[in-house]
Amino acid sequence: MSQGLSPNLQHLETSATIAISQEAKRRRAAGEDVIDLGAGEPDFPTPSIPADAGVRAIREGKTHYPANEGILELRAAAAKHLSLLSGGRPVNADHVVISNGSKQSLFNVCFSLFGPGDVVAIPAPAWVSYPQIVHLTRARPVLVPGDPEWSLKVGVRDLERVVPGAQGLILCSPCNPTGGVYTHAEIKAIAQWAVERKVWVITDEIYRRIHYGPGPAPSFLDLPDELLERVVVIYGVSKAYAMTGWRIGIALAPGKIAKAMAALQSHTTTGANHPAQFAAAAALGDERVEQDVMRMVAEFRKRRDLVVGRFRRDLPGVEFVDPLGAFYFFFRVDSLGGSSGTEFCTRLITESGVALVPGSAFGDDRYVRLSYAAATGDIERALEKIVGFAKKLGD
Ligand SMILES: Cc1ncc(COP(=O)(O)O)c(C=O)c1O
Repeated sequence: MSQGLSPNLQHLETSATIAISQEAKRRRAAGEDVIDLGAGEPDFPTPSIPADAGVRAIREGKTHYPANEGILELRAAAAKHLSLLSGGRPVNADHVVISNGSKQSLFNVCFSLFGPGDVVAIPAPAWVSYPQIVHLTRARPVLVPGDPEWSLKVGVRDLERVVPGAQGLILCSPCNPTGGVYTHAEIKAIAQWAVERKVWVITDEIYRRIHYGPGPAPSFLDLPDELLERVVVIYGVSKAYAMTGWRIGIALAPGKIAKAMAALQSHTTTGANHPAQFAAAAALGDERVEQDVMRMVAEFRKRRDLVVGRFRRDLPGVEFVDPLGAFYFFFRVDSLGGSSGTEFCTRLITESGVALVPGSAFGDDRYVRLSYAAATGDIERALEKIVGFAKKLGD
């Protein structure tokens, strides 16, 4: 960072994924034909029930300051929804805090829990914002490399080896950027380790509904209470409900932490966008929206199958993580003429007009992330170009 800025920002970098999308937009504006498979944003419109509820809230004058912790309607709908996803377990609405997007929820929880001298473990590859958010608290993020033989996931042995004295762990399942999903047994083992080691677990489950196995992806909320005393669940409507622009995030935390998070945002944002909270409450609380979610997930599944099928057929030597959730495909490029992810993506956008995100953004530049949250026609065209480019590199 340039001189004059506070040490608070000493590690700050712009989000690499947002930078790629901006580069794709810039090239498009300059008249280039660029297909953007970089952005992690559903291409579907927000379903009409939450959209109408948001408009209605504006018309009804719900346009003043909201409660700091979020409106009761949304906190209650979120608690009921999370309870239903985990077989009816009790979920206390008083422990739910609503923020302007789950990114802010993550910031609030990290800022409430960690500070100078703390170490926070982050399984890698990891979503770009985790290390940045931990740096903003002045704690130290430590990446724990995932096992390539195991969908780049980590287990207790990895955590013990790399970060035996960590104060926190941020886990993401289904995972951005890999599409990997932790099983119930894997989650339980990590939760038990965290209890023994008194580690706070922040479990980012924003992609929980976008799961290609039966039902929602396994969650920490499927575990018994005694394993959840130091667990904070991050959830949201951005991804599964195609509501990225409404900026609503959800955190479920032990009471004291939930209060601290609400107090923190009372001094930063006051609270989340008021009418948008009614839209999110309708998304989570109205059963008819479930049909919309199922339709979108079915569509993501078709696109996933398209990408996987094409790679298997045309690039059989290229390894990738088995994508079981979210809408990302994470493939390895170092077998293609020794290319790094950065080189691959830089040349791909210049020579073939396809924007993907290099693994360097997530802590492992042997890989590249493709987002299939895009129109099928665009994915087909992009695959054609990627296959042609990869074959050229591999020759
Ligand atoms: C893993 C993960 N967590 C959190 C977020 C933030 O989502 P939002 O702030 O839109 O709720 C994203 C968005 O890209 C994400 O991929």
